[in-house]
Amino acid sequence: MKLKEIYELFISIGIKNDPRGEKEVNELLNERKKDYEKLSDEEKEYFDRETLTNPYGDTRILYGTGEEEIKSVIVGIDVDTGEIILGKNLGFDLIFSHHPRGVAFLNLPDVMKLQEDALIHHGIPINISQKMMAKRISEVDRSLTPQNVYRAVDSARILKQLFMCCHTPADNSVQHFLTDLFNKEKPKYLKEVIDLLLAIPEYKQAKKMGFGPKIFSGDLKSKAGKVVIDMTGGTEGAKELMKKYADAGIGTIVGMHFSEEHKKEAEENYINLVVAGHMSSDSIGVNLLLDEVEKVGVKVESFSGLIRIKRS
Ligand SMILES: [Fe+2]
Ligand SMILES: [Fe+2]
Repeated sequence: MKLKEIYELFISIGIKNDPRGEKEVNELLNERKKDYEKLSDEEKEYFDRETLTNPYGDTRILYGTGEEEIKSVIVGIDVDTGEIILGKNLGFDLIFSHHPRGVAFLNLPDVMKLQEDALIHHGIPINISQKMMAKRISEVDRSLTPQNVYRAVDSARILKQLFMCCHTPADNSVQHFLTDLFNKEKPKYLKEVIDLLLAIPEYKQAKKMGFGPKIFSGDLKSKAGKVVIDMTGGTEGAKELMKKYADAGIGTIVGMHFSEEHKKEAEENYINLVVAGHMSSDSIGVNLLLDEVEKVGVKVESFSGLIRIKRS
């Protein structure tokens, strides 16, 4: 499989599992194409043309032309210089990081816009989510400015090691997977929410390793009410949304991780908060992608926090 085929496959899986729906994502890409045509030559020079076909700024080939044949890949949740050297020494054709690096990291605020539209499905009006998220997105954007985001990419370049990252397509996949499961099983109490999570091998393994699902707000006997899965959209959303969730009739939010501020807001608004686990939730999303490349004969190895479980 060529590197660009893996990249394109991941994007297509991301679109298929996108909480906004495929139609909305395709409309967004069409809008971008129209906007691009209107740009001056000078503006076009700085425009990232990948965004015309890839709606996920946090997913990129970071080193490689895309034409290279990939027979083996080593995959981690975070890949930095240490992992690049390790992957290179072990002779893997490709190193794949879940968390974004290089330009893909700088594009994180862009994918957060996904949350605005996704919130409509939970009954939160777009005008509210858009304004609340705008504040949070600009916060995240500013927090990225001091970072040295090209370190790992530079290491890959100097070692001539093929390197990519894929973030939101994987997070969309775990979001879709858990939403389907929770809609089907409809857990009544938080105890049942935790049990449902522990029936998934990645969470079971995480618990054995010391980082199983945790209740941040509520207790095992709390009634779950309407459950929302919050696993995608770059990073944590606006904490002020907790009140809007409560107003929209949401009882429980199941997410990868929440800050202390989010926990406080949830408690104040009587929302149950369940932390499924960061590495374990990211692993599910990445595993759903990896199954597709393994099927066509690519050898897959895991490191850096990835709990590899094969489903098909
Ligand atoms: Fe993730
Ligand atoms: Fe993550």
